Amino acid sequence: MSDFWATKRVLVTGGTGFLGRALVRLLEPLGPAAIVAPPSAQYDLTRPDEVAKLFADADPDAVIHLAARVGGIGANLERPAELYISNLLMGTFIIEEARLRDVPKTTILGTICAYPKLTPVPFSEENLWDGYPEETNAPYGIAKKALLVHAQANRRQYGQNSIYLLPTNLFGPGDKFHPAVSHVIPALIKKCVEAAERGASEVEVWGSGRATREFLYVDDAARGILLAAEHYDDAEPVNLGSGEEVPVRDLAEMIARMVGFDGELRWDPSKPDGQPRRRVDVSRAERTFGFRAETGIEEGLERTIDWYRSNREQAEVASI
Ligand SMILES: NC(=O)c1ccc[n+]([C@@H]2O[C@H](COP(=O)([O-])OP(=O)(O)OC[C@H]3O[C@@H](n4cnc5c(N)ncnc54)[C@H](OP(=O)(O)O)[C@@H]3O)[C@@H](O)[C@H]2O)c1
Repeated sequence: MSDFWATKRVLVTGGTGFLGRALVRLLEPLGPAAIVAPPSAQYDLTRPDEVAKLFADADPDAVIHLAARVGGIGANLERPAELYISNLLMGTFIIEEARLRDVPKTTILGTICAYPKLTPVPFSEENLWDGYPEETNAPYGIAKKALLVHAQANRRQYGQNSIYLLPTNLFGPGDKFHPAVSHVIPALIKKCVEAAERGASEVEVWGSGRATREFLYVDDAARGILLAAEHYDDAEPVNLGSGEEVPVRDLAEMIARMVGFDGELRWDPSKPDGQPRRRVDVSRAERTFGFRAETGIEEGLERTIDWYRSNREQAEVASI
């Protein structure tokens, strides 16, 4: 990283969240002129008047839009409408306000959930529009994908410089562990840690275990976002991933072993698997802004489990 950030006033929406906290931690030592990262209680970004006020107060040179309502399969199944409208509104108002105020650079976070259900593996950015996303996360994925269309249209018509990143599933210390909102890694860690503590003989796990996922350590994701915000200025979306595909069954066995649970993992195939396979093509990120993930899955899991064990109360607060 260069001294690019030294003169910048940076607005980080969602800066209080899992990824946002990691990004702010990484950004602070780069010495920006200001980092503005307020909670939703201060500015509700689903309201255009509050977005306008936030921009007036922050006066940003760079916006990193991470704010979102996010959850695992459970939250996507139970609250599809909330996830759709809130993510669409927040992104829409942020992109428009950045345009109206001539903010030089806006970085928008999409999601791997925007990809078609049966995208050829590895998912290439070229295939983003080749089909409908996996049904359970489609409302969330499509709301975020609409922001790419918005950013590209504004670039064409007004010359606004917004870039759009597609991170794969994130994990790491600071993740959300409450069952109402957790993704697969925190959900499995919590179940296995509790089962080991109870001396339980089995743990029930959602789905068949046959689906695969790719995981990106949260600090790697934050570094990738800052590299892109500094070096990438094109209209095309870019994947952010590790390039490593892990079957959920192997992941669960790895976590059980690491937390010391030696009972049986009982798969419940009546629960959805979500998208059958996930692994992204990471070559565009490497070529255009030099991003490569550094933290392997085992190392990242060790740090996540350690963090969970020493921060149980904080980890299990539900928020979405
Ligand atoms: N986690 C993943 O695996 C993953 C994977 C791919 C992409 N992403 C993307 O990465 C970004 C960050 O995700 P995350 O996991 O860090 O989520 P998170 O921990 O749930 O954080 C969400 C953030 O958004 C803020 N927010 C939510 N509703 C808001 C509102 N109405 N007004 C203002 N702020 C609001 C929250 O603020 P408060 O806490 O103050 O309410 C919080 O700071 C999202 O754009 C997500 O789509 C995440």
